[in-house]
Amino acid sequence: MIALVLLACASGPVSIEPTTPSAPTETAVEPRETEHETEGPHETAETGAPTPDPTPWVWELPSTVLPPVVPESNPMTVEKVELGRHLFYDPRLSGDGRVACASCHQQEHGFAVPEPVSSGVGGAVGVRNAQHLANTAWNATYTWMDPTIRTLEDQIVIPMFGEDPLEMGVTGNEDVVLLRLAADPAYAVLFERAFPGVAWGMPEIVQALASFVRSLVSFGSPYDRYLQGESALSDSELRGMNVFFSELAQCHHCHNTFLLSDSAISTGTTFFEYPMLNTGLYNVGGTGAYPPESVGAYAFTKDEADIGAFRPPSLRNVAVTGPYAHDGSVATLEEVVDIYIRGGRLVESGPYAGDGALNPYKSDFVSGFTLSAEERDDLLAFLRALTDEQLLTNPAYADPW
Ligand code: HEC
Ligand code: HEC
Repeated sequence: MIALVLLACASGPVSIEPTTPSAPTETAVEPRETEHETEGPHETAETGAPTPDPTPWVWELPSTVLPPVVPESNPMTVEKVELGRHLFYDPRLSGDGRVACASCHQQEHGFAVPEPVSSGVGGAVGVRNAQHLANTAWNATYTWMDPTIRTLEDQIVIPMFGEDPLEMGVTGNEDVVLLRLAADPAYAVLFERAFPGVAWGMPEIVQALASFVRSLVSFGSPYDRYLQGESALSDSELRGMNVFFSELAQCHHCHNTFLLSDSAISTGTTFFEYPMLNTGLYNVGGTGAYPPESVGAYAFTKDEADIGAFRPPSLRNVAVTGPYAHDGSVATLEEVVDIYIRGGRLVESGPYAGDGALNPYKSDFVSGFTLSAEERDDLLAFLRALTDEQLLTNPAYADPW
């Protein structure tokens, strides 16, 4: 709690609202009224054979982690997750038939992509680094700097329908996309199993994608195994963990909880502040400014204290999700750590020149500190111990096509 209160002072929370597990969630694409009956078997048009009701999802989590909040309008089922997996890996879901979610979210990179910023349909280049997707079910907010997006359903319509940046370019191509998918008999089966008796369309597609992304859980890193009582961390990694959670380095003030991000909500969370923080990556012209394409939560709150304020990213699998920061402008973990040691980044030349360490909006938790060469290596070793090989290779998360 102390950390949260201090966070509030450092950044100015963007809003304070109770979140209850049962809070109804609005999706940008409203779930359609369905004609199907909720009870009993459903007949498929083709075979007349009954379609079994979808199977409720069972979370497999460590005993210390409470299940995530799932919107009542989109309960998790095994069949929806499986449909969502097919859609996630399917470029036919984009306007030009070339870009899949998986183009920018690759399993071997923890569902991030090893480029600073990524290109959407027609090669349109975005301005932000594609985020990794491990354990996003627990995220309090979605994207780097928008404090208002609170569900995966609301997030997923952005890459699909957004026009700035142009990612999948579905807007204006809805019919083409739906016809393309409907032409594949595999989808007839997958949709019928996931949404028995429903004339499916974009709302069901968004629900299935959200369900698949919600199913991407990662609790198999050496650090997790250590938390569960195994001696899974080396001496160096253990020393690095102590640096990470120390009042010298202060990392844990923003990268705490099982997500290693303070921006985490589980079932049972009743009060929450939505942390958005400035880590001194920029200080354009010494005014505290950030590059205009990514000014931080300020773009949404218009509160000056939110200039350069971003959601602390979850550090799970961080060794494989680089490059780093909201614009991918930090190439390596070594550079990230050196920026924190310095207390902000010095951009020496170019249009964004300025000393981030002097950014007036910077959090007090990023004040700079000294580490021996060995302690710095230990901290890096700990960050690398957050990689969950199971996530990167789990066939249940892989391309089904
Ligand atoms: C062209 C590249 C691109 C494509 C295609 C793309 N994304 Fe993303 N994704 C991004 C970027 C970049 C961000 C960060 C956006 C921001 O902060 O403004 C992001 C963020 C996200 C997030 C938020 C994660 C978090 O921690 O808040 C989710 C969830 C997500 N994408 C899911 C999807 C899904 C599902 C699809 C397919 C429907 C998809 N993305 C397609 C690039 C892409
Ligand atoms: C004041 C809160 C705060 C503190 C303290 C803090 N971080 Fe961060 N961290 C953030 C935010 C916010 C970002 C994203 C910044 C951006 O993109 O502009 C970030 C980004 C990162 C990234 C890049 C992750 C990615 O996916 O791009 C790493 C790695 C990281 N921090 C590690 C650390 C370590 C190690 C420490 C301690 C030395 C630390 N952080 C201390 C808030 C914090």
